[in-house]
Amino acid sequence: MHARALCLLWGLAISTAALGPDPAPRVAFQWGDPRRILPHFSLRGVSNYDVLLLSKDEDTLYVGARDTILSLGVDSTGTMAFKNLIPWAPTDEKKQECVFKKKSNLTECFNFIRVLVPLNQTHLYVCGTYAFSPTCSYVSLDTFTLVSGAQGQPLLLDGKGQSPFNPQHTYTAALVDGELYTGTMNNFQGNEPIISRALSNRTLLKTDAFLRWLQADAAFVASFSIPHDDKVYFFFEETANEFDFFEGLTVPRVAQVCKSDVGGDKVLQRKWTTFLKAQLSCAQPERFPYNVIHHAVALPQPAGGTVFYGVFSSQWEMGATGGAAVCAFSQPAIKEVFNGKYKELNKGSLRWTTYSEPVMVPRPGSCSVGPSSDKTLNFMKEHFLMDGKVEPMGLRPLLEKQDVTYTRLAVHQVPSISGTQYPVLFLGTDQGLLHKAVVLPGGTHIIEEIQLFQEPEAVRNLLLSPAKGMLYVGFARGVLQVPVANCSLYQSCADCILARDPFCAWDSLSHACRETRAGANVTHWLQDVEMGFPNDTCPQSRPKGRAIGRSQDGVDSNVMKTLSPAPNTVLRLPCPRLSALANYNWRYPEQRPSEGVAVLADQTLVLIAQNRTAGTYECWASENGYSRPVARYVVQQPRGGAGHPGYHSRVDGIAEEGVEPLSPHRSYWPQFVTVTVLLAVTLVGAVAVALVSYHDRLKAKSKVQGCSSPPATKASQQEKVPLSGAGGDFQFPTSYQDGACCLQMDGISQAIDADNNRLSAGPGLMDGAPGAAAGKA
Ligand SMILES: *[C@@H]1O[C@H](CO)[C@@H](O)[C@H](O)[C@H]1NC(C)=O
Ligand SMILES: *[C@@H]1O[C@H](CO)[C@@H](O)[C@H](O)[C@H]1NC(C)=O
Ligand SMILES: *[C@@H]1O[C@H](CO)[C@@H](O)[C@H](O)[C@H]1NC(C)=O
Ligand SMILES: *[C@@H]1O[C@H](CO)[C@@H](O)[C@H](O)[C@H]1NC(C)=O
Ligand SMILES: *[C@@H]1O[C@H](CO)[C@@H](O)[C@H](O)[C@H]1NC(C)=O
Ligand SMILES: *[C@@H]1O[C@H](CO)[C@@H](O)[C@H](O)[C@H]1NC(C)=O
Ligand SMILES: *[C@@H]1O[C@H](CO)[C@@H](O)[C@H](O)[C@H]1NC(C)=O
Repeated sequence: MHARALCLLWGLAISTAALGPDPAPRVAFQWGDPRRILPHFSLRGVSNYDVLLLSKDEDTLYVGARDTILSLGVDSTGTMAFKNLIPWAPTDEKKQECVFKKKSNLTECFNFIRVLVPLNQTHLYVCGTYAFSPTCSYVSLDTFTLVSGAQGQPLLLDGKGQSPFNPQHTYTAALVDGELYTGTMNNFQGNEPIISRALSNRTLLKTDAFLRWLQADAAFVASFSIPHDDKVYFFFEETANEFDFFEGLTVPRVAQVCKSDVGGDKVLQRKWTTFLKAQLSCAQPERFPYNVIHHAVALPQPAGGTVFYGVFSSQWEMGATGGAAVCAFSQPAIKEVFNGKYKELNKGSLRWTTYSEPVMVPRPGSCSVGPSSDKTLNFMKEHFLMDGKVEPMGLRPLLEKQDVTYTRLAVHQVPSISGTQYPVLFLGTDQGLLHKAVVLPGGTHIIEEIQLFQEPEAVRNLLLSPAKGMLYVGFARGVLQVPVANCSLYQSCADCILARDPFCAWDSLSHACRETRAGANVTHWLQDVEMGFPNDTCPQSRPKGRAIGRSQDGVDSNVMKTLSPAPNTVLRLPCPRLSALANYNWRYPEQRPSEGVAVLADQTLVLIAQNRTAGTYECWASENGYSRPVARYVVQQPRGGAGHPGYHSRVDGIAEEGVEPLSPHRSYWPQFVTVTVLLAVTLVGAVAVALVSYHDRLKAKSKVQGCSSPPATKASQQEKVPLSGAGGDFQFPTSYQDGACCLQMDGISQAIDADNNRLSAGPGLMDGAPGAAAGKA
């Protein structure tokens, strides 16, 4: 019945709200792309590089991995040098115990590091799962060893409540004023979550398990102490039981405890006396919520206060409408909810209702509650859930993206050259993609997507080094270092402005797109992060119609090639497509040839060299109201009679690359070639239509299934059939067999190959590799 109610509601949600377009990353880099070089570090035999910590000077990166603590030297040039290592595996005895308890000695009975915090100038504090027996210790930074106990053995402390038992369970830790606040699972079974405070001479404090302040499945994702605030905040999710009609509904939550809390004297001894929790809301109005939280970060604001950013997904498999969302929550919005009404459980009806009596003094949950305020503390035992929910800033997600699951995020406040601060989000996915996005008044713009790994795997951790301009990525097999930007890949002022990357600006003196590092002299630099209008920003960059290529200002880095083909050669003229947000169009010679020319789905223009197809062909990109040519080909009238073999090309200045002739060792009838090309284009069209409709049908199917089956769990969500390509930029199968005619999308040449067995296929594909097109004019 509950499932049906959900389904009804969900159907309603889908039908009433039209989906906006899915925001596409403007530029995408495949793994190994030389424009985004990602130095990486890994050590043979070491895995699970889960926990990252930077030293205060940002020169050393500490990594908590499986059975190992590492120290790496890092710098802004991209090196990650091994400095030191502490092997810290569980003892054989602990391993045997772990195996005896039916845990795997191949995947689980290890010491997975879970807490790694800077205790003081000379020591780190570290905890790990230690073969299902959580253990902590101190790391001396002088010697980079574990601190020894009395007998010279490493000092091992009980880490229960600080590290989980099970490496699969979530954890969070924050070191505040020398004390460690943690949220994790407190027992072997993994059904007793706990928020606790340790590491000081003050009383060790815990949440009360008996009073069920936390549901048994609470999963912690982050915790923070923020400036000018007397509380520590925890972000987590748990099954809610305050909703009458929903069973098994997950809700994202924020909880607070006071730093000044010392527990109660008579009531709530050794327990928090200020624990409160509230629901977080991340949803479009009238739409189904993103109710699963994966991670959160806190970003102090230049004007004071703090904004929390969280990445969410949905508990329900929602086909094309599912995916991920980023929501921002302001510190005042959270405080307001914690200062608002409480909920209470009606013992008779077992339903949660709003508590509307006058609130006592001192206010329950406020930091002025003393250990002996028994009346207030008794109230706190039952009133730990707030009535209001924390709405996101702007009352809607900052970013919604289909077909991805964001697992981690990092946020940095980046000043533009005019001094405005823009939040830049780095979002890691469960498939190993990194999205970099800037939050703008007009909406969030995804600047780039980087495929981090060769094989898809989850991003485990992200850590920013603002001083080094680096982002560190922890994953199963190592640590990657991603420079926050590579501005030099934008080669013209227009590209630099259209990127809308706050890290990049156009230096009009040196004619280069450069990083806006602090301290740079930006007198002659140009940037338009908010609008990205090159026509307003770049000098002399207004489109000049057909007069392109002649401009002396070097602003349009036009690419031009002159081709002198043999008659009836098939030429493939690629159009470099840097931006997914641009429309690409070919401009033809004045007398547009009526036949012998076709444009493929990837915007490559295919033509048969004949007198009537000679002329100038230009591929124009238009984006954000601005048009510019990205490739220009001057195809000359063929020389030499038909049957004369050979292909000639004269390229102005620069070595020829990117234009692929069909190297004919013998000649063909032009008619045959024309027919073949047209057939190929028709086939491609047909395949495209078929794929799109198949794609749509799959989507429709998955919707229906999603509705009739019970809500998917987090785990099964990840097994969803990948229905990528929602942006319309779909990928074709690498080869497509159709009877005798064998056609490959990236090489028309192969169509002919099938009929002329001796012909060699053209070299690899050229589609869209920017800069691959040709030399500069
Ligand atoms: C940045 O891009 C340029 C040109 O596209 C490339 O040559 C360079 O190696 C890249 N640098 C990094 C650090 O990725
Ligand atoms: C794991 O246990 C199996 C059987 O109990 C044993 O054969 C194997 O050597 C153990 N592997 C490790 C890495 O300890
Ligand atoms: C840092 O903490 C360690 C472990 O508690 C302690 O032994 C050491 O004296 C402390 N050092 C300083 C400088 O406070
Ligand atoms: C705890 O230690 C602090 C300084 O480290 C000291 O000022 C305080 O008196 C101690 N409190 C107790 C209860 O011992
Ligand atoms: C910045 O560069 C411009 C031009 O090179 C120069 O006139 C100006 O004095 C420089 N400003 C500073 C603060 O160095
Ligand atoms: C193509 O043009 C060239 C030069 O203008 C001329 O020599 C040649 O005869 C023409 N070929 C055809 C088939 O018209
Ligand atoms: C530049 O292009 C934008 C978008 O089309 C337009 O709104 C703006 O008015 C243009 N500015 C100029 C100076 O042409």
